[in-house]
Amino acid sequence: MKDEDIERPAAMKVRQGIQDAMTYSLPDKKFTEKKIDIVEVDIELKNLGWNFNNYRILNLTDIHLGQWINPEYLDELIDYANTLNVDIVTLTGDYFSYNLHDYDKALENSLKKLTAKDGKFGVLGNHDHWMSAERVRNIFKAADIVDLSNDVHTFKKGDDCLNLCGVDSSTVCADDLDKVIAKMPKDIPSILLAHEPDFAKQSSQTELFDLQISGHSHGGQFIIPKFETTPFRGPNSTRYPVGLYKVGNMIQYTSKGLGTNSFRIRVNCKPEITIITLKTSKKQIIEIE
Ligand SMILES: [Fe+2]
Repeated sequence: MKDEDIERPAAMKVRQGIQDAMTYSLPDKKFTEKKIDIVEVDIELKNLGWNFNNYRILNLTDIHLGQWINPEYLDELIDYANTLNVDIVTLTGDYFSYNLHDYDKALENSLKKLTAKDGKFGVLGNHDHWMSAERVRNIFKAADIVDLSNDVHTFKKGDDCLNLCGVDSSTVCADDLDKVIAKMPKDIPSILLAHEPDFAKQSSQTELFDLQISGHSHGGQFIIPKFETTPFRGPNSTRYPVGLYKVGNMIQYTSKGLGTNSFRIRVNCKPEITIITLKTSKKQIIEIE
């Protein structure tokens, strides 16, 4: 899908105006570990080989660079993420909000610094398409990030395999799950990156994915205390807006993300870095002579 074919919301200029007003009128934020929710989730996958037991995935999503997450903030956040000793990094979209040209080089430089043992993998969000999917894909290339838009990467360790799949943004109708299914080796544990969490309804029905990782909702930027959910649910995040869900036989995980929408406010809903640790449900057979 080309940049010129994307349908953009009519109110983009108004949203950018609100965002700019809030960005310039409120003081700059500095990254500190304390202001971030480091959410650690263990997820058991059936048939996961023992070689992938305790495999650690760091997910970053919805950076929305250029608002209160400025280039310095992102740089410090990435320095911190690099200390977390994970196997792979996944990125689930919305790197920009309404201004790409002032921040694209900064994003590229920060993402180049991001490291993980087995690599970096990403998909795009609706905002990336609204700005320029082509430029974001070039940033991926420059930063050595595997673009999993409607694509699959299969990891192999010893006799065990794991599919990491991705779909492009469903908000802009760039998703092509059939293409992913045609490419993916079957009968091995499979994870899907999808910017929009409600895509889980569709992906779970295929019975081919064990886990979907998403962002997009920002956790509604307000979590009701004790209920751990949000009343603020935008398009494509009405069903699974925050945290863990079981959708059919698939697990859906929706991160609260890092940035915000035009309104720079988060109540009981800190920005999030997610670390997912995969666990096998297989029994280990120990042979005793
Ligand atoms: Fe989004």
